[in-house]
Amino acid sequence: MTQVRKVIIDADTGIDDALAILYALKSPALRVEGITTVFGNVDVHQATENTLRIIRLANAPYEVPVAIGADRPLKRPPTGFSAHVHGHNGIGDAELPAASQQALTERADDFILRKAEELDGELFLVTLGRLTNVAHALAKDPSLTRKIKQVYVMGGAVQVAGNVTPVAEANIWGDPEAADIVFASGLDIVMVGLDVTMKTNLSMAHLDFLQRRCRPENREIVDFLRTSMAYYFEFYRQANHFVDAAPMHDPLTVLAAEEPGLVTNRTMRVTVECESALCAGMTVADLRPSPSVGTPVQVSIDVDAETAVGKLLSAFI
Ligand code: BDR
Ligand code: CA
Repeated sequence: MTQVRKVIIDADTGIDDALAILYALKSPALRVEGITTVFGNVDVHQATENTLRIIRLANAPYEVPVAIGADRPLKRPPTGFSAHVHGHNGIGDAELPAASQQALTERADDFILRKAEELDGELFLVTLGRLTNVAHALAKDPSLTRKIKQVYVMGGAVQVAGNVTPVAEANIWGDPEAADIVFASGLDIVMVGLDVTMKTNLSMAHLDFLQRRCRPENREIVDFLRTSMAYYFEFYRQANHFVDAAPMHDPLTVLAAEEPGLVTNRTMRVTVECESALCAGMTVADLRPSPSVGTPVQVSIDVDAETAVGKLLSAFI
């Protein structure tokens, strides 16, 4: 039996974040020490409300504290949210019962710093949104780099196109300065970007399978997934010509943090572009034979997508 991994999930709880959180709370191989929230798909208060409701839906067998984080980028003016991708409430306009707990009064960055200290090198961070909370935490205590075991970042694109601009992925584009600080910090980073997440698709057939096979206690979760994912599938039909399917950006990142063998990583020197209007938020990898620009990070370049999606579904069966 492999050791249970202790994680903090940092999320801008939209549709795929919600599934990633549900999976993490069901997985016996993960212990979710807390969830921190950040603006992104929705404003930070909606992201927090969604997170609290998702925790109730998951019926986790242990307490999962939630800490509210940043409501805007480090330096840039706040931009709009992604109702066209994630719905007005961020979860595909699905209705969920009211939460049964409240968020902490402790801020997200302080929560991350405290847990990293308490868990003494055992903590994994899994970021599913902008890197603003992690950048704030690093500003308060740069020694955080030595206290966190690894950071799995959903974000970036190296050898494939971006998804909000020709070259930038949404989580990096939404706060490039924060991503730049985190990437250059010396934290041990695994970048799970569009290179692999766009190959890891959940389809309506998978949801039909879940409907037939889920454990009775997961019935409400599957009903929620069918509603929220229908919204997501429609966005991906319009944007990417997918048929009743969508990429599992955030769930794959949690899966990779749990079972690293699902992705193949290559160490690359990466820089986050912060200056150019056209290329802001691009994760520029120095792919030359003798790379010299950027900080070494592990970049996921391949994925066993079939096993990843199978593992994701199995949590509810
Ligand atoms: C990322 O952006 C958000 O819309 C998703 O939740 C995911 O974290 C994909 O680019
Ligand atoms: Ca997200």
